[in-house]
Amino acid sequence: MGRKQNKRTSRRRAVAMVKRADKHDLYQRAVQEPDADIPLIQRIFRSQFSRPARTLREDFCGTALLACRWVEKSSENRAWGIDLDPNPLEWGRVHNVGKLRPDQAARIKLIEGDVLDIGHKSVDVTVAFNFSYFLFRERASLLNYLTRAYSTLNSEGALILDAYGGADAQRTIEETREVDDDFDYVWDQHRFDPIHHHVTNFIHFEFSDGSRMKRAFHYDWRLWSIPEIRELLQEAGFYASEVYWEGTDRKTGEGNDIFSRREQAPDDPAWICYIAGFRRS
Ligand SMILES: C[S@@+](CC[C@H](N)C(=O)[O-])C[C@H]1O[C@@H](n2cnc3c(N)ncnc32)[C@H](O)[C@@H]1O
Repeated sequence: MGRKQNKRTSRRRAVAMVKRADKHDLYQRAVQEPDADIPLIQRIFRSQFSRPARTLREDFCGTALLACRWVEKSSENRAWGIDLDPNPLEWGRVHNVGKLRPDQAARIKLIEGDVLDIGHKSVDVTVAFNFSYFLFRERASLLNYLTRAYSTLNSEGALILDAYGGADAQRTIEETREVDDDFDYVWDQHRFDPIHHHVTNFIHFEFSDGSRMKRAFHYDWRLWSIPEIRELLQEAGFYASEVYWEGTDRKTGEGNDIFSRREQAPDDPAWICYIAGFRRS
């Protein structure tokens, strides 16, 4: 086979690889870790209220993977997932809710709507993960979200958020990570504005044949700091907030996926943490 034909064949295969890929499946495999998140949620909740959380609201739920895992964990667990976009919700109904047993599926409700508007039975825990609430770029709009989240919690309740930061978060860089020996996940910090702390980030996916799903996800956020978030939690009514910081693997010097409550943390160029606000009223 001549070189030209070789090229044509590999190009055909390249098109086929990205065409076969499903961006929601790639996102879930690259980004989400519900089996690590749920024990942490329970540990945080139990530390305050000495009992397990049973009802969960997943704000900005996308495909609602976390909410689905939640109802799988116990027959006492119920979940609500809320997202504005019907597309990930429908994907989640088919691929995540669709895999649950009927009694589990009956304990989850996916709602298409704005997290600011949706009212339902109050819950033990609300989570907003993968920094989704960073889309509120003004102080007043983030405070409004936190106040509404507070109002949908039970009298003993927790709002759990994640956050990222460090010097590397304030740079335009791309970071590539291989997932499942199958594809590359690329986190593209495309823009950082030091005046407003506005960031534009993309997620791309790359395949072994050289094909690429460029800008599969696009985020225009404000990079909020931990003290700003905690001050706003307090203004929204939460009586206390705590920060759960990732430990360090002694061998690699990298994060070890174990998050513990901390009052202080060492300097780190690229950190992720969890912030919990507590309601007791
Ligand atoms: C970063 S994804 C989060 C996916 C998921 N929570 C996770 O942990 O990976 C952000 C999601 O927020 C949704 N969204 C944006 N604004 C929203 C709003 N005001 N109310 C509800 N959902 C919203 C988008 O449609 C998108 O699916």
